[in-house]
Amino acid sequence: MTRRWLAIFLLGLCGCAAAGFSDAAGRSHPRVLVLGGTGQLGGLVVRELLASGARVVVLVRPSSDRSTLAGLTVDFVTGDLLVADDVARALRGRRVDVVVSAVRVDDGDFHFYAKMMPPLLKAARAAGVQQFIHHGAVGAGDNVKKFSGLGWERVPGIFERLKDQGEGERLLRESGIHYTIIRNARLYPVEQPPTGVARLTEDDTVLTPMTRADLARLTRECLLADACRDKTYHVRDDSLAWPATGR
Ligand SMILES: NC(=O)c1ccc[n+]([C@@H]2O[C@H](COP(=O)([O-])OP(=O)(O)OC[C@H]3O[C@@H](n4cnc5c(N)ncnc54)[C@H](OP(=O)(O)O)[C@@H]3O)[C@@H](O)[C@H]2O)c1
Repeated sequence: MTRRWLAIFLLGLCGCAAAGFSDAAGRSHPRVLVLGGTGQLGGLVVRELLASGARVVVLVRPSSDRSTLAGLTVDFVTGDLLVADDVARALRGRRVDVVVSAVRVDDGDFHFYAKMMPPLLKAARAAGVQQFIHHGAVGAGDNVKKFSGLGWERVPGIFERLKDQGEGERLLRESGIHYTIIRNARLYPVEQPPTGVARLTEDDTVLTPMTRADLARLTRECLLADACRDKTYHVRDDSLAWPATGR
């Protein structure tokens, strides 16, 4: 019996196959490339993934502060998401089952996703990535029309940023890679503990605040899960008041 079929047989015995997606080889210890893993949401996502048994590689810029990941068993690959060669190198010759993006765009770049996504998705396709979990924003692309009257026009640059977020989503949906888009809204400070009641919804009119810890849990729950395949989600957490601070 080959190793692949032995893996399928054992997964069938333990019932693990219910987890989802088709490639048995990656199911028990999926290999995940985390983008933005040195960030606030990204650091929590990395911890959730490690706790679930995933093997994690984090893409870091040369200037990134890795201290939030100190002591964790992760691999690092150095590169900037806006440098196509860096992105190609991060994925070349590496088995990656899932890419998770928890990147926050530097202020003022209104074409970040339009620039970053094409080379990244090309490299991900070539590497056989099965799922791309993208943390985006409520209001991305045409979704902004669902939130007229909220006074967003008073926030400088917001419509340009949301247009770029929409472009990122479009490129991902058309990439041929199974996607899970999780649009978030106002985030509580990273120290805020999880409520445990935040849930994903396909109702794209939902706009509630949330914690990064809950977002990290929801990310882990979607990892290679059939239920999350090719879905665009908002997050509903009715237990939280709108935060006075946070970002
Ligand atoms: N904060 C909010 O209220 C809010 C609202 C809506 C949406 N979001 C979304 O929430 C998610 C996480 O936000 P956050 O505040 O937790 O993030 P964060 O702490 O600001 O972390 C941002 C991460 O993105 C990385 N990054 C940015 N540009 C990069 C590039 N060119 N190449 C490689 N890495 C790059 C940063 O790397 P370095 O360590 O090198 O800087 C860092 O790891 C994002 O998807 C964001 O769009 C947040």
